[in-house]
Amino acid sequence: MCGIVGAVSARNIVPILVQGLQRLEYRGYDSCGVAVYADGLKRARSTARVAELAEQVAGEHIQGGTGIAHTRWATHGAPAVHNAHPHFSHGPGDAAAAAPGRVAIVHNGIIENHDELRAALKARGYRFNSQTDTEVIVHLIDSLYEGDLFEAVKAAVHQLHGAYAIAAFCKDEPHRVVGARAGSPLVLGVGKDENFLASDAMALAGVTDQIVYLDEGDVVDLQLGRYWIVDRNHKPVQRPVKTVHAHSGAAELGPYRHFMQKEIFEQPRAISDTLEGVEQIMPELFGDKALSVFKQIDRVLILACGTSYYSGCTAKYWLEGIACIPTQVEIASEYRYRESVPDPRTLIVTISQSGETADTLAALRHARELGMEQSLTVCNVATSAMVRECKLAYITRAGVEIGVASTKAFTTQLAGLFLLTLTLAQLRGHLTETEEAQHLKAMRHLPSALSAVLALEPQIIGWAEHFATKEHALFLGRGMHYPIALEGALKLKEISYIHAEAYPAGELKHGPLALVTSEMPVVTVAPNDALLEKLKSNMQEVRARGGLLYVLADADSKIESSEGVNVIRMPEHYGTLSPLLHVVPLQLLAYHTACARGTDVDKPRNLAKSVTVE
Ligand code: M6R
Repeated sequence: MCGIVGAVSARNIVPILVQGLQRLEYRGYDSCGVAVYADGLKRARSTARVAELAEQVAGEHIQGGTGIAHTRWATHGAPAVHNAHPHFSHGPGDAAAAAPGRVAIVHNGIIENHDELRAALKARGYRFNSQTDTEVIVHLIDSLYEGDLFEAVKAAVHQLHGAYAIAAFCKDEPHRVVGARAGSPLVLGVGKDENFLASDAMALAGVTDQIVYLDEGDVVDLQLGRYWIVDRNHKPVQRPVKTVHAHSGAAELGPYRHFMQKEIFEQPRAISDTLEGVEQIMPELFGDKALSVFKQIDRVLILACGTSYYSGCTAKYWLEGIACIPTQVEIASEYRYRESVPDPRTLIVTISQSGETADTLAALRHARELGMEQSLTVCNVATSAMVRECKLAYITRAGVEIGVASTKAFTTQLAGLFLLTLTLAQLRGHLTETEEAQHLKAMRHLPSALSAVLALEPQIIGWAEHFATKEHALFLGRGMHYPIALEGALKLKEISYIHAEAYPAGELKHGPLALVTSEMPVVTVAPNDALLEKLKSNMQEVRARGGLLYVLADADSKIESSEGVNVIRMPEHYGTLSPLLHVVPLQLLAYHTACARGTDVDKPRNLAKSVTVE
């Protein structure tokens, strides 16, 4: 998703801007650009990678102490140079349409009233050179400019409906950058005699660790060696400066071909880091106020998107099965707009890798507006909006996830959600000390169990060679492995572009069986659990129609390879934590299938890592 970097300094800040963009690359983008003040507005824009933008900038000798930069993920207007940010104002007084005016801007978010603003600005003589909603903002600021950019931005954002994070500068005030945010993330980085803006602290790693998280509606004025912030009512405010040791996103690939592969193989470490220090089950794992919050709830409502939603779907089986607490799981983008029946004794649980997903944040706020005050997030970014806005948090320690396809975030979320299950079970009298000890032992075994599953990679590569030639695939699971089938299908479609669907195996005969032919590979997650015999019948239904089965089974499942049935034997039988282990071969299957098809594994087409717009 779009990324912003901005700076005011006495030194040439172009290398910092470009490096910041490189650190935001993992979020996904289709074009990029940078603009600086150098005796007027100068910019370079590109639909290639940031590395090529850097060459362009060097070739054109673009340098300056005040500037803004952007990676764009297209929402309004196709990915093209003329739509790439930064955008310049072209007011009635500016000569040629292409000549730079006086204001430059970068923007993340979606402006909902851009059509009416555009019409009004056109009527006043403003010329538009792009299809973006962003150009509306830059013209609007220009139209309100009377020698003070801070005032112009404050007046402009007042007229915007929708989500935005912006950074702007004006050639008439060359040592000033103004930022504003509502609905999209923006942080201020405080340096020595210089100040920065960025979409997240990671973009400023190595530049400054003094970070101010701007609040909804804040407008910030950056100058050399000083800054000030006003809130949504334009009242001056002090926001705390936090020391944030952000990791650089430019992580090393090491021996791996792609970040996704690296992240799949990091799972034993990610799980062990996530569980570090967990010696016993207790509410304080989720924060100081956890006991009081947990005493005020009778049910759980999980809100999330994509892969995080599937981890929530898995957790529902645990929460209802072990903790005996009624649990509902909702796709955030649906929940936020539907009529629902709120119960104030509900614990809202948001799940998010990034902690910045716009739909999940909006769903959380919607739930709060409905009177559900108790909230907890399972999140991988401790400094994210999600963590700041929830009363309680379990921070997963997956580390920076760069591949757009989420892998280690998923399994670490499951670990956090399992701890939540055990904690609620204990408080509700459904967990004996013996059971607690057994579950903790099983959790501590996860890293080595995951390593054993990762050793199946050569067999999965064999499967992937078959899948690479197909255009459709079906994934089946039952019970808590049904969400694992959903996640396997999502991974495959996301990076290999193969159409994949997942069904609870019992549903097969109610429709999807009609799709099954010898051209349809059917992946089946088949551990030896209470539903295994039912699942075996469903597998027979597939074989009887000529469908090819690819089965993940443990030794106790007693399913052998035979004609049309390809079995990969899971190293152990895992019990309740089985979903965490069974998802790994499916991640590897998607990864190797995508490699065989030659897709851009870490940056699949049309997708962004962090979805900060609706
Ligand atoms: O950062 P979040 O966990 O909130 O992101 C939610 C989804 O956008 C994300 O899981 C997405 O579905 C992944 N690309 C799937 O691999």
